[in-house]
Amino acid sequence: MNKTADRLYRSPEDKNIEDNFQFILFGGTGDLAHNKIIPAFYNLAAKDILPDHYTIIATGRRYDNKNEYLNNLYSSIENKKEKIDNRTWQSLTDHIEYFQLSFKENNDFERLRKRLLQKSKEDKISNRIFYLATAPKFFAEIAKKLKEFNLLNAGFEHSDSRLVIEKPFGHDFESAKKLNNTLNDIFSEKNIFRIDHYLGKEMIQNIMVIRLSNPIFRALWNREHIDNIQIYLNESEGVKDRGKYYDDTGVIKDMFQNHILQVLSLIAMEEPANLSAQEISDKKVEVFKELADNDLSDIDKHIVRGQYDSNTVNGEKIKAYRQEKQINSESQTATFMALKLFLNNDRWRNVPIYLKSGKRLNKKEAAIAVEFKDNFHSSYLQNQKLDSNLLLIKIQPEEGVSLRFNTRKPASNNKIIPVKMEFCQSCQQFFNSPENYEGLIYDMIEGDKTLFTSWEEVSYSWKFIDKIQQKCEEENIELHNYPALSEGPEAADRLLEADGRKWLDKELS
Ligand SMILES: NC(=O)c1ccc[n+]([C@@H]2O[C@H](COP(=O)([O-])OP(=O)(O)OC[C@H]3O[C@@H](n4cnc5c(N)ncnc54)[C@H](OP(=O)(O)O)[C@@H]3O)[C@@H](O)[C@H]2O)c1
Repeated sequence: MNKTADRLYRSPEDKNIEDNFQFILFGGTGDLAHNKIIPAFYNLAAKDILPDHYTIIATGRRYDNKNEYLNNLYSSIENKKEKIDNRTWQSLTDHIEYFQLSFKENNDFERLRKRLLQKSKEDKISNRIFYLATAPKFFAEIAKKLKEFNLLNAGFEHSDSRLVIEKPFGHDFESAKKLNNTLNDIFSEKNIFRIDHYLGKEMIQNIMVIRLSNPIFRALWNREHIDNIQIYLNESEGVKDRGKYYDDTGVIKDMFQNHILQVLSLIAMEEPANLSAQEISDKKVEVFKELADNDLSDIDKHIVRGQYDSNTVNGEKIKAYRQEKQINSESQTATFMALKLFLNNDRWRNVPIYLKSGKRLNKKEAAIAVEFKDNFHSSYLQNQKLDSNLLLIKIQPEEGVSLRFNTRKPASNNKIIPVKMEFCQSCQQFFNSPENYEGLIYDMIEGDKTLFTSWEEVSYSWKFIDKIQQKCEEENIELHNYPALSEGPEAADRLLEADGRKWLDKELS
């Protein structure tokens, strides 16, 4: 297999990173760095995948020295793992530097340039990665300073330093475009890695394999045979400490603009001619363009918005969204959205696609359900009512695939009953699904952009989301209350009942 093909079928254990690299982590003291990025490096170190020479330079203001920083990191990783292997920890921390820096202090960037220069003389590096794990308002400011203070080239011959940028990329199309223009003045598109950590999930990476490597699905993956598609990303948690961010963002920008539309693009795209990152992205972009062109004239009939209200569950009082920290007490932000849409192309015309996501629902569960048509007649069935064939790709918490099909009830007079064939990937003994960020960090070091979002994908997805936002405002779409830790607003059920269907997460639970 070539490298790209191997990427789709890879497990990180198979490969070693050979190039020496510098990884400059802005926001190195933050939540994401502590809970995701550094733990992912720990796992890569534990698997002995990292090269002999690499440096992680973690920046932040809050700690005075490396010891203080490492003690805090240790506690975070300890909370995630049963036991930290001291040899792995030692080998990782030998490569970590803590660099106190304020984004506002030019002098700090000058000091950082000198440090990069000096470190580059010690290690012959072939890769330099700047990772912006900071609030989005700092993305452009930091990128400009990287250029102004010549950090891209300091002691590094190549002009292809990479930039990794966290979500959200802009808050609408115009702001995303402005940010992108700023970044493009400094980095070429090939060196900008926009993260959507959902793409790092094992079962998301599995979508194309399931679709394309199984003739039984590949042959039926179209409007002739598929009745409807449902994608649901349900969360049970509230907004926790991210109230300020969430109240400006809501479910539509937090979950739909990125994760849900990305999953949809992988489900709906045409088959790529090859497995290069560019080709896959081009195919996804076709879906995003279709979405952006979507006629939203019936939006009031196709959308349900909701916000969680207080509730008492098992004697515990659960706060309403408006009572959470940093949330406006009259907030109109939707914490739940269900949406029905169509793609107007030969493969999917008239196949309804139902998307749903919400906070503070009764279950944390993400899955893709593909329900097949039963539009055939067989005298053998003697008019028995059949359950539809159903393919369920389970993303989290369980990772796996379930297929519902019909079979004869034992000892009956040919009575037909539905049964399920289950593959549970995450239930297997000794199975340890790599953390999303593990694979993503591996890929950014290797320069593989397959699991990162291109500017075109981001721009069309924003155009679609902006259109929905605008329509919702113009048509004053109702915000339904739903009790915290419930199944969500009843109006979301009616959206499907009107089509004679049900949400499959409810039907299957
Ligand atoms: N947390 C998650 O699970 C998660 C998940 C997905 C995406 N993200 C995205 O990841 C990014 C980071 O999120 P986070 O939760 O890690 O944020 P966070 O916990 O608030 O961390 C922010 C980081 O920025 C640094 N910082 C802030 N102002 C600074 C300044 N003026 N100068 C220097 N450093 C400054 C902080 O360092 P000091 O306070 O030490 O100065 C800290 O390291 C955001 O874009 C977020 O949307 C986060």
